[in-house]
Amino acid sequence: MPEAIFHWHSFIEISSSHWNIFIDPFIEGNNQCDITVSQAIDRKPVAIIVTHGHDDHIWNSVQVAKATWCLVIATFEVGERLKTQWVTNISLHHIWWSVSYDWFSVKFTPAFHWWYISWTTITSTPAWVLVKVDNVCIHHAWDTWLTKEFELLWEYESIDISFLPIWDRYTMGVDDAVIATQMIHPKIVVPIHYNTWDQISVDPIDFSRKVMLDWKTTPKVLKAGQMVVLN
Ligand code: NI
Repeated sequence: MPEAIFHWHSFIEISSSHWNIFIDPFIEGNNQCDITVSQAIDRKPVAIIVTHGHDDHIWNSVQVAKATWCLVIATFEVGERLKTQWVTNISLHHIWWSVSYDWFSVKFTPAFHWWYISWTTITSTPAWVLVKVDNVCIHHAWDTWLTKEFELLWEYESIDISFLPIWDRYTMGVDDAVIATQMIHPKIVVPIHYNTWDQISVDPIDFSRKVMLDWKTTPKVLKAGQMVVLN
């Protein structure tokens, strides 16, 4: 049975006994991350999914991809930018386009967030990602603001687990993430992207308590390195 491991901030690892995938491997600067860059490389991911071009989402992706030659899955402009960093094994995606790989499928949907790509003047559409593996649908919302597009997800997909940002500075805050949860109706919701740096301190238990008022979804607050079994 696959598992989702929270490495803090937006770094999620989906793993089974045979393979693992990184989503947004942000390690250097992620001061609560439970693994180092070399440990991430030692885990030999089969793929890294990158959904937007900010430093905290792409920089360590470049390092791990170049060391392991794993597949990098990204939206078109971000993928083109990664090529300029000598990342060569890249699968380019368009929004709302599902692609099947050996053990999983990936679909990006639009997120609402700043469009620039770090170290460039190029912009790209930031994205959420849906990963399907072993009949489990995993949704990662990255650094998004609240938008009615969450309702569209509910119409399209039955989501088993959703990772939602709650930081309220660069992303949704607690109350908006609760509304997003009610729009998506995932079986499980995990708050992410909070308390990595000092600007704002957010209480994930506050999010958890508010989500529990809606009995359809089970909130899970994870520490760095903790995992959820997906079934
Ligand atoms: Ni961002």
